[in-house]
Parts: sequence; structure tokens; C-alpha cells
Amino acid sequence: MIQSVKAALYLHFPYCRSRCTYCDFNAYTDGGELARSQYIEALCTDIERTGQERRYQIQTVFCGGGTPSLHSAAELARVLDTCRASFDFRPGEVTLEANPGTVSLEQLRGLRQAGFNRISLGVQTFRSHLLERLNRIHSAHEVEQAVDWARQAGFDNLSLDLIYGLPGQTQDDWRDTLNRALQLSPQHLSIYQLTVEPGTHLEAQLRNREIQLPHEDATWKMDRWVRRRLRTAGMVRYEVSNWSLPGYHARHNMVYWKDLPYLGLGCGATGFINGWRVRRLLHPHAYQQAIAHGAVPLASAERRDSEGALRDCLMMGLRTRRGVCLSSLGRRFPDLQQKTLEAFFQGLPANWWFIRGNRLRLTSKGSDFVSSVCEEMMDVRLLQPAQPALADPGLSLTKNRALSGAEIAPALAP
Ligand SMILES: C[S@@+](CC[C@H](N)C(=O)[O-])C[C@H]1O[C@@H](n2cnc3c(N)ncnc32)[C@H](O)[C@@H]1O
Ligand code: SF4
Repeated sequence: MIQSVKAALYLHFPYCRSRCTYCDFNAYTDGGELARSQYIEALCTDIERTGQERRYQIQTVFCGGGTPSLHSAAELARVLDTCRASFDFRPGEVTLEANPGTVSLEQLRGLRQAGFNRISLGVQTFRSHLLERLNRIHSAHEVEQAVDWARQAGFDNLSLDLIYGLPGQTQDDWRDTLNRALQLSPQHLSIYQLTVEPGTHLEAQLRNREIQLPHEDATWKMDRWVRRRLRTAGMVRYEVSNWSLPGYHARHNMVYWKDLPYLGLGCGATGFINGWRVRRLLHPHAYQQAIAHGAVPLASAERRDSEGALRDCLMMGLRTRRGVCLSSLGRRFPDLQQKTLEAFFQGLPANWWFIRGNRLRLTSKGSDFVSSVCEEMMDVRLLQPAQPALADPGLSLTKNRALSGAEIAPALAP
């Protein structure tokens, strides 16, 4: 009997109604109804062909974007039906990322019926002047409306995304936003500090001094307040940017953080299966063209070596509340230089990390510096030098064309 590979499934939906000033995601605003339905056709073909390659047992699904909720319930139901027909499909969690300006009660009812059981709403802020400044397409009232509709449609697992450290955002703005979010009783909150991504409109506005970021101390104060407020609301910070009521952590995201296999389908999606990191063509048109020509729409496929695998395990694990289990790490990587790892952590401030029950974890203070810890760890060789390098897969990174069958064969081999 053919053994199935357990995996999570990420599906990418690239179209948005308009571009938010801070966003550098793989998103496009030039897709009308026709473009969107053509994209769904290509995505379904991708799903079917991937299902023919190998038997995958899908355990969680995350439909992200872009704005997946720009699609009709019928289109999204077709995508899930194609998954049912192509995979051993028994996900416990099926999430749809939704923009509050693009949903209706009828659509949400259709989505719940189709099999979605979790909605993640991009809210960002409840202050209307900030929503406008970020070029969001919805009002605070529409967020409340969307949550109400989601509940009416039968969704009892709801997540809201919020951003702090926005230009012009005061402590009052932020407290009001978090309080209004909590009044909606979400099971999960993703709370991000604003990142100024190169090439975004936000970056240009800051460069031209049209707007200003809050002072570092003010952003720090917002972050401290989140921790106090959410703790009193009974939420647990199970990852650097993610909080949930007990039992409601995002199962799909835990797959990334635990370094388990996942498929990534749709334009620009990344998957990680069998030690191979594969990325699909970025632009929806290039992706659709490759699919139409019968090619696997891959832009790159890279074999991760042991040092890379170890680093990923550490970096992802340190982002979570569970931390990294040192004994499993030692079993999985017998050539791990424990002393080098110890020396690296001894070199960090003592109040940034601790070990309890054989688990290495960052403290709340250390979590503030998770990115610098990970960056510094990149410079340290953690495996014995004698570790033999894995065979070079002979694949190179290509951006604008689909890889040929011969090039990708090793990445797709069962
Ligand atoms: C793909 S988007 C969410 C869904 C939908 N596209 C929306 O915006 O409503 C994922 C989330 O990432 C966060 N995000 C995106 N760009 C960010 C940035 N530059 N800094 C901080 N958070 C960001 C936002 O909270 C956003 O809701
Ligand atoms: S709606 Fe979401 S994906 Fe689209 S531009 Fe805004 S933040 Fe980015």
C-alpha cells in the first residue's frame, strides 16, 4: 500500500482590491472577475497535478493572499472540492484570510458550508483616520459587521490581524483598537509591529517626510501594553506575534514553526516537502502560462542541507512558547556541537533565554530580540565540520521561467 505523506496545505490567492501602503506581499490589484476565475482554474489544475504526483494526507489548509475573500463562495468551494478529489483530505482546520471590505453574510454562509471553519480577518486598526492613511478599503464598522456575519454563518474560530507602531498612531489609538478587538471576542489575535518594507508606498512617504513613525519608546510602550492587556483577557502568547485563547492556536502555522512538511500551491507559494524547499512562479500570469503548457510552475527548488535544517529548527522553535526541545534536537542532529550552541547562548544576556525541562526558550525580553538572535546564529557553525555535505541537487534559482522536467525531477521524486 502506498504510504501517504502528512502535510499542511497553503493556497495563495494573489488579487486585492487595492494595495495597502505598507504591504509587499505577492498581491496584484489588476484582477477583475475574469482574471480571478481564470486563476481559480489554474490553481485547481495545480492541485490536481500535485495530487497525482504523490499521495498527500492534508491535515490543515490555509488560504492566504492577497485577498482570498475577493473570490465568490462558489469559486472557493470549487478549490476545496478539488482538494477533496486530489488528496487524502481530512483537515481539522481550514482557514480563509479575509478582508472585512470584501465579505457578505451570504458568501460567509457559503464558505462555512463549503468546509471552511476558521476566518482570519485583516483589521489592522479601528481608527478611521489610520485606516484611510493605510489605504485600507474598509471602515471599523465593516470590521464589526464582518465579525457578526461570520458568527451568524457559523464560524466559531475567528482571528483578527492588528498592527501597531503605525505612523501617527497614539497610545490612545492603540488601546482603543485592542479594546475594540477584544470586545469582538476573537479566539485568536495576530499582532504585528509595523515593518517598513522596501519599495512600498509607506517607505516613500517616510522618506519624503510626509509621515513619521512613532518614537521607539512609544512603540515599546504599545508592545508592553499588549502583553498586559491580553494576559488579563486570558490569551496566551504562543508565538512572537500570535496570541490565542487556550486551545485556539493556529494549527496550520504550528506546522511552519515545528518545521513539518507543507505544500504551497498557487503563484509565489512556497512548499517544503522531503527536505526540498520549492517556490512557485511569482506572477499569476507566468504561473497560469506554465500550467497551461503542462509544466510544473516552479521558480526554484533547493535542497536544504543539515546545517540549514538545524538552523530552521532553532529559529522557528525560538519564536514559539514551546521553544526548542534539546534532546529531540540532539537525536535529529547527532553532529550538533552542543558546546558551540551553549557558548552562543551564554554570550547573550542572561535574561533573554532559559532552559526548563530540556527545552530552550526565549524569555519575554528575549522575544523582543528574536530577529537579531536568529541573525547572529547564522554566523555560527553548529554542526561538526566533518558533516558530509548532501549531494548538490544541481538546481539553480530561476525567477522568470518554469523549471524543466529534468531540473525538478529530484524535488518531486517520491
Ligand atoms: C496577507 S495579509 C491579510 C489578509 C488581507 N490581505 C488583508 O490585508 O485584510 C496578512 C497580514 O500581515 C500583516 N502585515 C502585512 N504587511 C505588514 C507590514 N509591513 N508590517 C506589519 N504587518 C504586516 C497584516 O496584519 C495583514 O493582515
Ligand atoms: S489587502 Fe492584504 S494582501 Fe492586499 S495589499 Fe492589503 S495587506 Fe496586502
